[in-house]
Amino acid sequence: MVENKDSILSANALYHVYTSKAEDGNVVALRGLHVDVKKGEAVAVVGPSGSGKSTLLKCLGGLMKPSAGNVSLDGKNMTRLTGQELVELRQKTVSFIFQEGNLLPHLSARDNIAQPLRNQGVAPKVALKAADEMMERLGILSRAKAVPAKLSGGEQQRVAIARALITNPRLILADEPTGALDPITSREVLKLFKELHQDDGVSFLIVTHSKEVAAFANRSLELRDGRFVAEHGDDVEITNLSKGRELLVDEMGMVTFPPDLLTRMGGPGRYSVDDVSSGALKLVGESVSDIGEMVLATKCPACKFDYESSDEQECPSCGSSRPMVEA
Ligand SMILES: Nc1ncnc2c1ncn2[C@@H]1O[C@H](COP(=O)(O)OP(=O)(O)OP(=O)(O)O)[C@@H](O)[C@H]1O
Ligand SMILES: [Mg+2]
Repeated sequence: MVENKDSILSANALYHVYTSKAEDGNVVALRGLHVDVKKGEAVAVVGPSGSGKSTLLKCLGGLMKPSAGNVSLDGKNMTRLTGQELVELRQKTVSFIFQEGNLLPHLSARDNIAQPLRNQGVAPKVALKAADEMMERLGILSRAKAVPAKLSGGEQQRVAIARALITNPRLILADEPTGALDPITSREVLKLFKELHQDDGVSFLIVTHSKEVAAFANRSLELRDGRFVAEHGDDVEITNLSKGRELLVDEMGMVTFPPDLLTRMGGPGRYSVDDVSSGALKLVGESVSDIGEMVLATKCPACKFDYESSDEQECPSCGSSRPMVEA
């Protein structure tokens, strides 16, 4: 695999299959993804529910072993490290913020937040002082002594965020970090992320349904059914997803067309290859009419946004592509 010194996180041909003995069988959650997050870059991952976002994050963070593919963190291939080396590399490089808080139930908020520092051998007093400062920043200092069960969802989320930030990680992997927060708290957390990004050069990979969070990122990757269907360039507005749209072809040769492009091509159907040369491919459609009429979905599958009579191709609320459905 090509190792890039400028990358904090990179992955090559990443596949993940959840195996199951049940009748509906295995679920292929990731289908040959390439990911490259540069040092100091903030990348958003958007896409509908079930598209593989959480699976991707867990594989990239080394919490789950992908079925195939390599992941490198700070230039080191994680699959080649021993258990202890992996723990050390993760401890000093990356922090996670998850959908489910993953807090230790028997520890107070303060102790939960101080724990990653304690794990690194920092003296208790120093660690607790750092935890208090972090709680102050996130507006939860008054809840320092409460155990997670006594905290609201939003407070638990802020404890998880404080715990993630306390080690000064160079990379933060976050899964819907503002999902459980009210709009004001959510904005404050985002402001903190922006400071870390701009002032301290922290890199982010954030799964989000929020337009504001996605707009904070330098670029966003759109996941659909385990494949990236689009990538949106530097400083893009999430509402303008159709600009700079790319088609990504995976290692298996699979390609997924964004719905707007598909509509312009004439919709689903059989296409023959008319001409092919390096870097160019001409497809000619035939028998498209046999497929039945397809229309744009009326509701966003990711965030349930109601398109009403608009003919937008991307959800103005969360940025997912608008799918075509049978009429
Ligand atoms: N532990 C599991 N066992 C089997 N299948 C799973 C498991 N976890 C996830 N899946 C399946 O893998 C696919 C991707 O799931 P994933 O949780 O990564 O989606 P997601 O994009 O994070 O969705 P959401 O936005 O709802 O959080 C889905 O089809 C899901 O049903
Ligand atoms: Mg998820």
